[in-house]
Amino acid sequence: SRRTLLGSGAAGLAVGVAGGVLGSEAVAAGPEPLGRVTVPFHGAQQAGILQGQQARVQLAAFDLAAGTGRDGLRQLMKRWSGTAARLARGESAGEHENQIALDAGPCALTVTFGFGASLFAEAGITGQLPPALAAPLPDFPGDALDRARSDGDLWVQIGADDALVAFHALRVLQQQAAGLAALRWQMAGFSRTPGATDRPMTGRNLMGQVDGTNNPRPGQDGFAAKVFADGPGWLAGGSYVVFRRIRMLLDNWENLPTDRQERVIGRRKSDGAPLSGGGETTPADLAGQNADGTLAIPADAHIRVAAPASNGGATMLRRGFSYQDGLLPDGSLDAGLLFIAFQADPARGFVPVQRKLARADSLSRFLRHEASGLYAVPPGAPEGGYVGQALLE
Ligand code: HEM
Repeated sequence: SRRTLLGSGAAGLAVGVAGGVLGSEAVAAGPEPLGRVTVPFHGAQQAGILQGQQARVQLAAFDLAAGTGRDGLRQLMKRWSGTAARLARGESAGEHENQIALDAGPCALTVTFGFGASLFAEAGITGQLPPALAAPLPDFPGDALDRARSDGDLWVQIGADDALVAFHALRVLQQQAAGLAALRWQMAGFSRTPGATDRPMTGRNLMGQVDGTNNPRPGQDGFAAKVFADGPGWLAGGSYVVFRRIRMLLDNWENLPTDRQERVIGRRKSDGAPLSGGGETTPADLAGQNADGTLAIPADAHIRVAAPASNGGATMLRRGFSYQDGLLPDGSLDAGLLFIAFQADPARGFVPVQRKLARADSLSRFLRHEASGLYAVPPGAPEGGYVGQALLE
């Protein structure tokens, strides 16, 4: 039971088992307990980008306190990185350990940090602002963004296969930031729990669609160039992440018969196969036709409008989670997708694709973009180092 890389079908990423070699009883009992799965914090990339989604996510943004500056930010990133590394190994958080996850293992915990454009002004390092953060994301048609739940100086993505483990990490990071940075917004999400299906499968979103099939995969030609940034210096090997809270109008969606839902996406609901034929992983044939000469994948289908081929090659690594957050004043569920996409350059990833989707995608009638963020994601920290070191040292 290893944490696979990007869900089903991909090469497995070697992850360790905390606490050393499993006892023979554990081996006899089958796969090791979920709690023992570890993902190292240190590495060329930050953890939480290349690994498949965990069952739970806590997303948060923090704003620096007045006067924190560059020195305070360095102190915070050192403290947070040390804590994230300890928690990923299944050790105590150290300072502010609150015992919320005391009996659990690390449960594949990953903590990923991002830097928003506003951080650079706050910390007095505007000279280091990466060009891709110089302008905010453009307004897209249909956006209904809540600024209080958007942006922020620092972005934190905490993934784990257990809700207590994820909450514990967030709470500790929040308390360790006291005086230096405060929570600006927080959201919780989920995806499928490992072991819920007989074999590893691509997950489903709250519209019932198989979601994540045609993500770029490590090992594919040009993967690194599409996902990882080549500069500026301190960001080389890092990435940019776009976050969007996208509410689904589920009452409207579920009123559509299944065959119409399938034409909205361009894939079969049962198994995610493209409407041009084959199975889930068969490449979609955008030119394919039905017997009557109409396009098998309609002109306004989500996978056609979003495809790299329709957007000058624009590509991103999507790693979203579902959310469900009580009722809205009109009685409908506040539920949807916490969309998260990593890319080498948002101008060659999210921006052109979302421009097109907002106008031409039939799925957009069932969606409301309610919050948004764009952050530079520094490369991973080496053993003993901290995230953002090349920027802050
Ligand atoms: C593909 C759902 C928002 C970009 C897909 C697929 C589904 C899906 C079911 C097909 C399976 C797959 O390849 O993953 C959704 C839902 C969304 C949403 C429910 C909102 C709640 C977005 C947004 C973007 C995006 C905002 C980017 C701006 C893509 C891309 C693909 C894709 C690039 C792959 C297209 C291809 O096959 O080449 N999405 N999506 N999606 N989506 Fe979305």
